[in-house]
Amino acid sequence: MLRDVSSCNTYNYGDALYWDGRYIQEAGCGSFDWYQRYSALRPFLRHYVPTSSRALMVGCGNAMMSEDMVKDGYEEIVNVDISTVAIDMMKRKYEHVPQMKYLQMDVRDMSFFPDESFDAVIDKGTLDSLMCGTNAPICAAQMLGEVSRLLKNGGVYMLITYGDPKARMPHLSRPVFNWKIELHIIPRPGFQKPGAPPSNLKSCLEPIPLTEKGLLPADYVMEDPDSHFIYICRKIDESVELSNKSADRLTADLL
Ligand SMILES: C[S@@+](CC[C@H](N)C(=O)[O-])C[C@H]1O[C@@H](n2cnc3c(N)ncnc32)[C@H](O)[C@@H]1O
Repeated sequence: MLRDVSSCNTYNYGDALYWDGRYIQEAGCGSFDWYQRYSALRPFLRHYVPTSSRALMVGCGNAMMSEDMVKDGYEEIVNVDISTVAIDMMKRKYEHVPQMKYLQMDVRDMSFFPDESFDAVIDKGTLDSLMCGTNAPICAAQMLGEVSRLLKNGGVYMLITYGDPKARMPHLSRPVFNWKIELHIIPRPGFQKPGAPPSNLKSCLEPIPLTEKGLLPADYVMEDPDSHFIYICRKIDESVELSNKSADRLTADLL
């Protein structure tokens, strides 16, 4: 679970052949969840993604995440991955679970799906993989453009990553996406600051206040220097925004 691409020491993470080879090599070793398991992410998912959501898991790999979500009440999860090997394995494993579908797909081109077809897109480690590959900025922009296109208004892109705001905000905060972004930080699984009690759930669920530039406040101290970041990017519903603005204007006129 702690396998991390933070050092980005290979350009292969963006390459389908690399992942196919890796999943063939690891066949028989069971499933593997990068960074964090569902149990640690559950509070965030349940908070931001209702169980009735139609969710897209981008770069699902052979993780348990979707299975755990379904066991927890999620009703529809479409899983995609560039690796045919991973998708074939997962299709076989879950053929009797109607809440989960598996499709081989490149997240940079998900034209198979119509616009605004998902309430939530969940990404654990996949943008990170693209960012470690060749042509990283272009690949990231292609992927995020597709994520934005597929989200319904008001829908949420949940990105779980090792990338801090300095590295990720320039990609996420492009005006064309018009996302309202919140950030949470969670320590690596098993991390405990010597002598400190484990941080409580309520404090974890408080978004970290970001600076105007979308960065961490200068005095912000991360308990675990190798923490994971959870970006909640909500696609702003223009019609709701506009009607809120008109209501504000009307109230102001009346006062
Ligand atoms: C770091 S792993 C994360 C796997 C899984 N999400 C997890 O949390 O364990 C990255 C996954 O992204 C997939 N991937 C990489 N590039 C991709 C692309 N362009 N399109 C779709 N999937 C991709 C890889 O095959 C791999 O399964």
